[in-house]
Amino acid sequence: MNDKIKNIISKKNNSKIISLTAYSKNIAQIVDKFVDITLVGDSVASVLYNYNTTRKISLDTMIEHAKSVKMGVSKSLMVFDMPYNTYKSKKLALENARKVIKKTKTEAIKLEGGSKIKEIVEHLIKNKIPVLGHLGIMPQSVRGKFKSKGKTDRERIKILKDAKLLEKLGVFAIVLECIEKSLAKKITNEIKIPTIGIGSSINCDGQILVTDDLIGLTDSKTKFIKKYTNIRKVIERAIKKFKNEVKLKKYPTNKHSY
Ligand code: KIV
Repeated sequence: MNDKIKNIISKKNNSKIISLTAYSKNIAQIVDKFVDITLVGDSVASVLYNYNTTRKISLDTMIEHAKSVKMGVSKSLMVFDMPYNTYKSKKLALENARKVIKKTKTEAIKLEGGSKIKEIVEHLIKNKIPVLGHLGIMPQSVRGKFKSKGKTDRERIKILKDAKLLEKLGVFAIVLECIEKSLAKKITNEIKIPTIGIGSSINCDGQILVTDDLIGLTDSKTKFIKKYTNIRKVIERAIKKFKNEVKLKKYPTNKHSY
């Protein structure tokens, strides 16, 4: 097992696991300094391409983003989010995972689902592909509005069972998306691998967010998002200053000229 993965697992019950997304080298270089996991998320579909579903992003587009991200990642574990329809069968999943690893040098992949993808997860792990699980809201399966998970007994039993199954299959951690807090706590307590929450409360072993959301580059108003800065304003100020200086002939000076 990769040392970075071992280190992530060892953080369970010790220190929180920090994870963020990156879609390009520049952001990855910044993110990598602070996180344990850099995820090339299929959220790129909505964040950068304005698609109304993550289903629309292609494997080849994700690969190009991951190649860029790889140039900025050195210390954290790089994880590639396998897009919709790229892991429909064992054969296709392994072929695509190998292609992704070969082209992007990513160190692990993320798949959405539990018992439905049991054989696929099993096959990938048997073939030495490290897998990060993803339960709760699974955007690739959602049509329409996203609703938090774990409100009914039936749902709670199913999610807990899926988490235990994924652990048994050998995934190294599980992303829990928008899971009710007492269920997130129960899952976290009942499995030995780490849980990484997004909208699933403090009761997880770590947290993940979309970087563009936390820096205020997107205008997403989702409840679980906390904006730590408004990077749009910072960029706007810089561009306004540039514009003014050009108009006033203050830029470029001799210092910036050949
Ligand atoms: O696509 C994504 O960014 C994700 C998250 C867990 C943030 O899957």
